[in-house]
Amino acid sequence: MRLLNKDLRLQDVTLIYAILLAALVVLLVAPYHASSPSLSPASSSSPDDTSRPSLPYHVPLDPAGQLELYWNISYAKQEVYMELRAKELHHGLLLGMSDRGEPTDADLVLLWNDGHKSYFGDAWSDDEGRVTLDSQQDYELLDARNTPEGFSLLFKRPFSTCDPHDYVIEEGTVHLIFSVLDQPIHSLRQLNVSRLQPGVQRVLLLRPDAPSPSLPSDVRTLEVLAPDIVIPQQETTYWCYTYQLPPNMPKNHIVMVTAGRLRTPPSVRIIRDRFVMNSQQEYRFLVPKRWVWEEAIVHHMEVFKLASHGLRSYSGSCTQDEAEESELLPTRCRWPSERPFYYPSDAGLPLGGEGSSRFLRLEVHYHNPLLISGRRDSSGIRLWFTPSLRRFDAGIMELGLVYTPVMAVPPHQHTFHLTGYCTAECTRTALPPGGIHIFASQLHTHLAGRGVRTVLVRGGREVEVVQEDKHFSTHYQIIRILRKMVTVLPGDVLLTKCTYNTEDRVKATVGGFGIMEEMCVNYVHYYPRTQLELCKSHVDPDYLQRYFRIINRFHGEDSCSFSQTTVEDQFSAVTWDSFSAEVLDSLYTTSPISMHCNQSTAELFPGNWEKQKIPGVLAELQPAARPCDPSRAPAQRNGPTEVRPRRSG
Ligand SMILES: *[C@@H]1O[C@H](CO)[C@@H](O)[C@H](O)[C@H]1NC(C)=O
Ligand SMILES: *[C@@H]1O[C@H](CO)[C@@H](O)[C@H](O)[C@H]1NC(C)=O
Ligand SMILES: *[C@@H]1O[C@H](CO)[C@@H](O)[C@H](O)[C@H]1NC(C)=O
Repeated sequence: MRLLNKDLRLQDVTLIYAILLAALVVLLVAPYHASSPSLSPASSSSPDDTSRPSLPYHVPLDPAGQLELYWNISYAKQEVYMELRAKELHHGLLLGMSDRGEPTDADLVLLWNDGHKSYFGDAWSDDEGRVTLDSQQDYELLDARNTPEGFSLLFKRPFSTCDPHDYVIEEGTVHLIFSVLDQPIHSLRQLNVSRLQPGVQRVLLLRPDAPSPSLPSDVRTLEVLAPDIVIPQQETTYWCYTYQLPPNMPKNHIVMVTAGRLRTPPSVRIIRDRFVMNSQQEYRFLVPKRWVWEEAIVHHMEVFKLASHGLRSYSGSCTQDEAEESELLPTRCRWPSERPFYYPSDAGLPLGGEGSSRFLRLEVHYHNPLLISGRRDSSGIRLWFTPSLRRFDAGIMELGLVYTPVMAVPPHQHTFHLTGYCTAECTRTALPPGGIHIFASQLHTHLAGRGVRTVLVRGGREVEVVQEDKHFSTHYQIIRILRKMVTVLPGDVLLTKCTYNTEDRVKATVGGFGIMEEMCVNYVHYYPRTQLELCKSHVDPDYLQRYFRIINRFHGEDSCSFSQTTVEDQFSAVTWDSFSAEVLDSLYTTSPISMHCNQSTAELFPGNWEKQKIPGVLAELQPAARPCDPSRAPAQRNGPTEVRPRRSG
């Protein structure tokens, strides 16, 4: 719980700052879940731990790196291989998946020891944390062994098992829970997962399976790094560093972006990323080899391309820096566990060139709760660019809801939806005849957000999901490269629907910038770049006034007294019951909308955008059928598997 609260607070600050600085929302908020800020490089995975090269994905589960998960995916077989590595085994391990990281109602895989023998099994926890072995065992144990580094457990599982107690592995965020069992377990019945207080780690288990595009031979890198600064001895610091591109730099294309943290010695470690290895010359040149990447006190980073031209170089606290109109570059952090962000082989993000700003700003959020003094840091972003321009410029577009209090979520709601529209009129006006290709996407809501889904509608039918996350968390907003690019043609509609939970709130949650207000946004990365920067909507304000009149009359309140107040006041004066909530929901799903079909100059495209009809959807996409083929569940074994670890290494 403590960890969670801390995250919430950080998130507030993050957002507020981002807004002050950029008037655009955070592009990258990938909070670093460590409760302990210091991690010795040696405790991160060592460079030679390639005992299973077939498991390319990796995430440390606990901040100290005692427990790590490696995995791979087979879309053909619809299964995931996972390897849990523990520095120390004690009496067992627990890994689970649940809706939002709760220990209850979780799908579990367990290794436990009763004092004599060890067992492996597929289990679940009920709403009180009680553990029961599944009647159908869907995790298949493949290997268990003691290694020089500790212990390794390899198993696999289908994405979907058809066991009602099992979690369905889908694209989007997966909340993993994990724990090391420190006592012998004589019966699973004695185990209460809630009492174990398992840790939580969010990951994208399913990743694009296409190989990353190869980099051009003339690729160069440019690092925007905090210039070896001393991290202030305070809990929260936003460090801003303005980087100046070389004068007269011609137009280049950024083809990949990676993020990392550099720290001065003691130890040397080569980055294992193969892109980095490929062009080690460049790497050595720019980053002295004695420097090391490591988990530091970095919470997250962002890079902006500043719009203004006459800037000076700057390195210091962001609060003393002037807010500037800026353009975001795609960035991400959590190096090296997160993969690089790369562009499709025929597109790149412009860097340099005539008329383009020469200033980039790096913003690093340091989280130093233990007030460690004297820690130095050179975190930053590495841009991989090429002078051989690709065919298309890439761009970023904002979909979803306009930030306005007219879009609100009533209190006490378990599930409430708000939808932002990008209408056919707007795409017809703004997109080229061949359309655009969306290749990456980043979802965004604040604390009440539970799910986000952007879907493409053509001719009144949903044809393709751009991105969906049923377990979305505001604490895990990384840019996701889409498994399949989505082409949007003139006349297509994009719906971005957000799901909120306000069960713990007593007042309406209105749309806005504040952390207790809400947003519903999808930043899509696409090419070829167009003038369409923003395609968002909100309900027509006149219709909202009709809603207030109806509801207040229904509740016997004098509606006239509200005429002078703000929409926020009007919402807080509503008596919330199921009737007022349902009427608001039907207002939002039927009333005309105001479209913001905006150009990058922050002007509307010519056209009539007020009181537009909500785009109709005649046919929704059917969820993909989950094959419930019993033969794929490897064994209908009813009991746990006895485990006798091998010794290796
Ligand atoms: C996943 O890893 C397992 C175990 O190392 C390996 O046998 C399998 O071939 C791998 N599958 C894929 C799709 O990489
Ligand atoms: C498990 O522990 C939690 C928290 O300590 C408690 O609320 C819950 O009732 C316990 N469940 C059972 C079945 O005892
Ligand atoms: C779109 O442009 C209009 C006209 O400049 C502006 O009033 C509006 O605030 C813009 N919308 C958004 C969401 O920025």
